[in-house]
Amino acid sequence: MLAGGGGSRLYPATKSVSKQLLAVYDKPMIYYPIWTLVTGGIREILIISTPRDLPAIEALLGDGASLGLALTYAVQTNPGGIAEAFLIGKEFIGDQPVTLILGDNLFIGEQMSVAIEGNLATFSGGAQIYLKEVPDPERFGVAEIGPGGTITSIVEKPEAPRSNLAVTGLYTYGPDVVSLAERLPRSARNELEITDINAAYLDAGTLRYSIISHAVQWIDAGTPDALVAGSLAVQTATRDQASELGYVEIAAYRRGYLTRERLLAVIDQTPSDTYAERLRLAVESAGR
Ligand code: TTP
Repeated sequence: MLAGGGGSRLYPATKSVSKQLLAVYDKPMIYYPIWTLVTGGIREILIISTPRDLPAIEALLGDGASLGLALTYAVQTNPGGIAEAFLIGKEFIGDQPVTLILGDNLFIGEQMSVAIEGNLATFSGGAQIYLKEVPDPERFGVAEIGPGGTITSIVEKPEAPRSNLAVTGLYTYGPDVVSLAERLPRSARNELEITDINAAYLDAGTLRYSIISHAVQWIDAGTPDALVAGSLAVQTATRDQASELGYVEIAAYRRGYLTRERLLAVIDQTPSDTYAERLRLAVESAGR
């Protein structure tokens, strides 16, 4: 997970605090992408952030043992682009496929987990990206799908988008992504661009995509309006529709990473009655 960046669009909220630690409804933002990974079946996560923010993120999440997760940490000294994650994570990745998620990307909807788990189960190398129909594609990397149903181009923040399909901040690659990132030239803004990585897989004919269901809302929570929209969407999903979205403890429990006893111990140490009650509901509803 890449959870650094400057957070300039959220200044001054981010003047002394990481964007990924700001609250989205009842949890820090970073809980949501972790939840997305965990519900998709991923329990080993390397969290990359800035030298300033990494200690606070580590203080929040620790080594993950109390959640049944294996969390490790690495610093990105300068925000040199999303694809730098593969250089920083080289040893973590080793010879295994890897999934990258951006720390400010909220995937609101339980169906997302099903899609991720299914794609990971059949992943056999190359790249897997997730596209979402958006009203403002010019803000994102945009994929064009040809008549044969394959992607024909990916363009970063196009002035005249050829589709309304944005590339979201969730990607799976074969371990060859590391050597690809090592050879990648920096862009005009001096970053290693994830769009260039995806374009390389496109050229090689090994870029797969899924279109995220209409039942799943995707919010890139990097602006004040998106942050509020995220909080409201999470409030609706979790309070009104009883979704377990973002409750990392519950996700770990549901997947069997965390035993009932350990979840009860977590509940015991939870100072918020509301949050503790929410976790307790999950224990009580297990098996139903
Ligand atoms: P952005 O939202 O594109 O960048 P930012 O967080 O620096 O925000 P702003 O433009 O407002 O200054 O980044 C998307 C996500 O990727 C976000 O979670 C931060 C993370 N990121 C890094 O960790 N390192 C990087 O080098 C870049 C470019 C992004």
